[in-house]
Amino acid sequence: MTDKYAVLGNPIAHSKSPIIHAAFAKQTNQDISYEAKVASLDDFTNTINRLIAEGYKGVNVTVPFKFEAFDAANHIDDSALVAEASNTLVFYEGVTAAYNTDGIGLVTDIQKNLGVALQGKRVLMVGAGGAAQGVALEIAKINLAAFVVVNRSLEKVHEMQRKLGSAKESDITAITASSFDGLEGQVFDVVINATSTGLTGSALPIPDSIFTSSTLAYDMMYGRETLFMAQARLAGAQVADGLGMLVEQAAEAFSIWRGVRPATKSVIATIIAL
Ligand code: ATR
Repeated sequence: MTDKYAVLGNPIAHSKSPIIHAAFAKQTNQDISYEAKVASLDDFTNTINRLIAEGYKGVNVTVPFKFEAFDAANHIDDSALVAEASNTLVFYEGVTAAYNTDGIGLVTDIQKNLGVALQGKRVLMVGAGGAAQGVALEIAKINLAAFVVVNRSLEKVHEMQRKLGSAKESDITAITASSFDGLEGQVFDVVINATSTGLTGSALPIPDSIFTSSTLAYDMMYGRETLFMAQARLAGAQVADGLGMLVEQAAEAFSIWRGVRPATKSVIATIIAL
């Protein structure tokens, strides 16, 4: 019998996840279906309960439901614990288990696909909202030379520091909070844009001097060149968007659901070619 999965969001029509999971299923001979479903904004828990009743085995969850997905679960994996947000739910025998595969997706894309080892590096994350919180633990698990988080509202960075302080792992890299002005005179090996400015088209007040020719500037958004990417490119940095992260977070979700890890290289190439 075909096992049913879906991605829930609002909006969701342009999601590439159905294509990605169909490619994974074909590659690994898994008998699954996977559709994009729009969920109503004020009814997320009922949507989850309905899907469970209909026999779904799991869902991916995207904007704006990642916090509600966490709240709907009765079992929390460590990957979702610090962010208190989930992009992957698993349903079995009365259990709704929440995972967060965004962090693994980001780190795998940077290290494996882009070939940039993070250990011992100076990493700057721009932003401290939901997207940033979803990936912070996985980055902090690596032994970095520095993990600086810059945000307009420093209160959100302090909240992130508090959350990471409660992580089960003992040897995580502590976050250094910075204002945008505080970036003057600093240089980073990797700069990750986790703000929503790619969606809104606004510029970030980051100085060009944080980039060198060996800096990787990574925007977690995908689909178009953001102002962040354009600035970093002009400043001479290496630039990547979040398409590889999208495929890698999906691969991690697929392996949680199906117990088999799909290869991602050909799938990334397929999505780029769309
Ligand atoms: P998401 O789920 O996409 O992370 P969010 O939780 O609303 O959305 O967070 C948006 C992030 O983008 C925040 O870090 C926000 O900074 P503030 O917390 O200071 O608001 C950041 N952001 C959005 N627009 C920005 C801008 N024009 N300049 C700098 N940061 C911006």
